[in-house]
Amino acid sequence: MRVCARKWSISEASATSEHLYLDRRSLLRSLSLGGVLAGSINSFVRGAIADEDVGPTSKYYPAPRNARYVITREITDEGIASKYNNFFEFGSHKSIWKLARKMPVEPWTVHIDGMVHKEMVLDFDRLLSKISLEERLYRHRCVEAWSMIVPWSGFPLADLVRLCDPLGSAKYIRMETFRDAEFAPGHRQSWYPWPYVEGLTLEEATNELAFIATGIYGKKMPGQHGAPLRLVVPWKYGFKSIKSIVRISFTDRRPTSFWEQVQGSEYGFWANVNPDVPHPRWSQATERLLGSGERIPTQIFNGYGEYVAHLYKGMDGESLFV
Ligand code: MTE
Repeated sequence: MRVCARKWSISEASATSEHLYLDRRSLLRSLSLGGVLAGSINSFVRGAIADEDVGPTSKYYPAPRNARYVITREITDEGIASKYNNFFEFGSHKSIWKLARKMPVEPWTVHIDGMVHKEMVLDFDRLLSKISLEERLYRHRCVEAWSMIVPWSGFPLADLVRLCDPLGSAKYIRMETFRDAEFAPGHRQSWYPWPYVEGLTLEEATNELAFIATGIYGKKMPGQHGAPLRLVVPWKYGFKSIKSIVRISFTDRRPTSFWEQVQGSEYGFWANVNPDVPHPRWSQATERLLGSGERIPTQIFNGYGEYVAHLYKGMDGESLFV
């Protein structure tokens, strides 16, 4: 189903029945993985503050728009989306943008571990220099019943999964955000189960919609949106789209996500958007568009059912929409 050919991706047709296997050698050759591994860097490293227009990775933006993902409504105004954020590491309110932008994100490394053939540490700047980015217009629906339409830049999560070369027995991908109380005051709030964690099944992670965003609005990712890389899974409530990822682990045990740990009766593992399944404290039938304030009906799977509904066939015993 993919439309953009990139140097380091393989076609769906060449995947084996164990959908995650790939010719690792050819991928590593095309990706020059040696140049992507972080060498001696083995933990989150503090460096320069990211600014959208400067720094080593700003030159990759804007990326060409992938025409497959069309939305007829207007794109949410950048000035509004970039000043109304959820990033609890920086505060439990929407105005964290100034503080989050002070977070140093260059250089940045991502640890790959767990059920993989070889654990590794990826250097983010070098990873970007080896891949082709694309822009995708997606709807974003927060569990709080607001929504926006934004152009993300990045690459399919499926490509990163293949690069990580998980074992055939791995079933889930678990992602973790940085932890640094010096820059993120939320980390001093000991009642939260830091670090922020999210997870997907490998079938979800390799679905064509699952995206690693490294930029937004034609520029590299600003701090408040989850610099330098975040997950975007548009058919799920926004809290699944974990920001500022520092670790990706493969596992055969379903990860417990941050919000599931905070309030499991309200926020579950699946969190697929469904207007007919209310949050225990409010309806999910409609959503408020950021910017215009217009209230519109919410759609099942946030309007992405044709891409993802099949993932959940025969799973009636699961709380798929919480
Ligand atoms: N990731 C981390 N690490 N911390 C967070 O608090 N909030 C989530 C998600 N990812 C969050 C996070 C929620 S609730 C939403 S709605 C989206 O980020 C908001 O993304 P945005 O601020 O880019 O619009």
